[in-house]
Amino acid sequence: MPGTKKVFVKTFGCQMNVYDSERIAESLIPFGFSGTDNIDEAEVIVLNTCHIREKAADKVYSELGRLRQVKEDRRAKGKHTIVTVAGCVAQAEGAEILARSSVVDLVVGPQSYHRLPDLVFRAQTESRRIVDTNFPEEDKFAALPDRSISKVSVKGAARAASAFLTVQEGCDKFCTFCVVPYTRGMEFSRPVDSLVDEARSLISRGVRELTLLGQNVNAYHGAGPDGKDWSLARLIGAIAELDGLERLRYTTSHPNDMGNDLIAAHRDQEKLMPYLHLPFQAGSDRILAAMNRKHTVDQYRRLIARIRAARPDIALSTDIIVGFPGETESEFEETLRLVEEIGFAQAFSFKYSPRPGTPAAKSDEQLPEEVKTERLHRLQALLASETTRFNAGCVGRVIPVLFERAGRRDGQIVGRSPYLQPVHANGAADLLGRVIPVEISEAGPNSLLGVIRAA
Ligand code: SAH
Ligand code: SF4
Ligand code: F3S
Repeated sequence: MPGTKKVFVKTFGCQMNVYDSERIAESLIPFGFSGTDNIDEAEVIVLNTCHIREKAADKVYSELGRLRQVKEDRRAKGKHTIVTVAGCVAQAEGAEILARSSVVDLVVGPQSYHRLPDLVFRAQTESRRIVDTNFPEEDKFAALPDRSISKVSVKGAARAASAFLTVQEGCDKFCTFCVVPYTRGMEFSRPVDSLVDEARSLISRGVRELTLLGQNVNAYHGAGPDGKDWSLARLIGAIAELDGLERLRYTTSHPNDMGNDLIAAHRDQEKLMPYLHLPFQAGSDRILAAMNRKHTVDQYRRLIARIRAARPDIALSTDIIVGFPGETESEFEETLRLVEEIGFAQAFSFKYSPRPGTPAAKSDEQLPEEVKTERLHRLQALLASETTRFNAGCVGRVIPVLFERAGRRDGQIVGRSPYLQPVHANGAADLLGRVIPVEISEAGPNSLLGVIRAA
């Protein structure tokens, strides 16, 4: 029975936040709530926020500005609303958020959102504003309801045939530009059994593809049923055995944690998709050292060669930062050269953004905004040409597509290739949730068009 009260969750930031948003909404279901995409009918509004770059954090405050009116309008109708800030801005700024925005009732960090039902209850009954940004001893995941509880409607939630599953959280690597170790805490791996159970629940909900998530997912070392620590490759092996699951992916990986067994899994595990997101951040050894990445350009290059030897058609993706403090023009050109040399199917690139509390933010070699912008444009032009080339290489091939949703055009459905490209084709809605061979007829910069070959 769907509840009568409504929760609206808006997600900013990474896939882990998308996962958390689903679980935040689900946490309220036993208390009579159901999810909604209509903010005006929500008793509880949650902004699940991101602190990674200044722009990401700023978005939260402009959103809170808009919420003021929503809350006012509801109040005029005699309805009470609890506005919650969750996620990494909540963790980083805590009570400061209450001071900056009077519309906020609750601030809850990424490690304590399983307490949300209780916090909402207290905020309502005690009519006071509450901040909970602790890193509690109790296991958040064990305290949350089972995933089979309901298929909630959460804005920005994963597609129904494909879902995220957080297996590892936090980070101890302390790259000098990054806030994640401060907002998500120390590295922590969930036990294998609870992940296999959660995967089963998701499959019973119709999920056919799982993306295993972690800030450093390949550093996964959770307790296995045998009491020993299992690697990500072993976890993938266990989840791949589940009937009904067709595809597995994982993200985000650190180059230094790319173990031999994980590379071998790309050769041996049929369900593991030929796609790997492996951030390298910068193409200069001096900048990599200043970032505390603890690997060199050549080590990255040799790692990629080993991965390609295991799985020659693998689509590579990466993250790159331009304009790190002190980066010279020629060091930036080394980044361009590495991009050209490796050839990426996809990439995310960012202007360096100084973050409070991180070592790089204190450097006195900050670069002017114009320099960062100009470098980003040059890099993005190169990356776009590589993605276009990769996509064009698929034309004429028949590739399996997991169809996930109806397209914008009538009669069209959209899915993903093994390489994560969106693929559009004409087909019936009953193909959703199935993997179907598609002959690719056209390639654009961001997606493919094809014809279904057999159903
Ligand atoms: N754990 C992942 C990255 C998580 S953050 C890894 O180690 O690769 C996602 C991406 O945001 C990073 O890869 C980086 O490219 C970017 N990023 C992080 N902090 C940033 C900052 N201060 N300025 C600009 N980009 C940043
Ligand atoms: Fe941030 Fe570095 Fe950890 Fe990635 S490895 S989350 S970039 S500190
Ligand atoms: Fe952002 Fe936190 Fe993810 S800072 S990128 S939401 S881990």
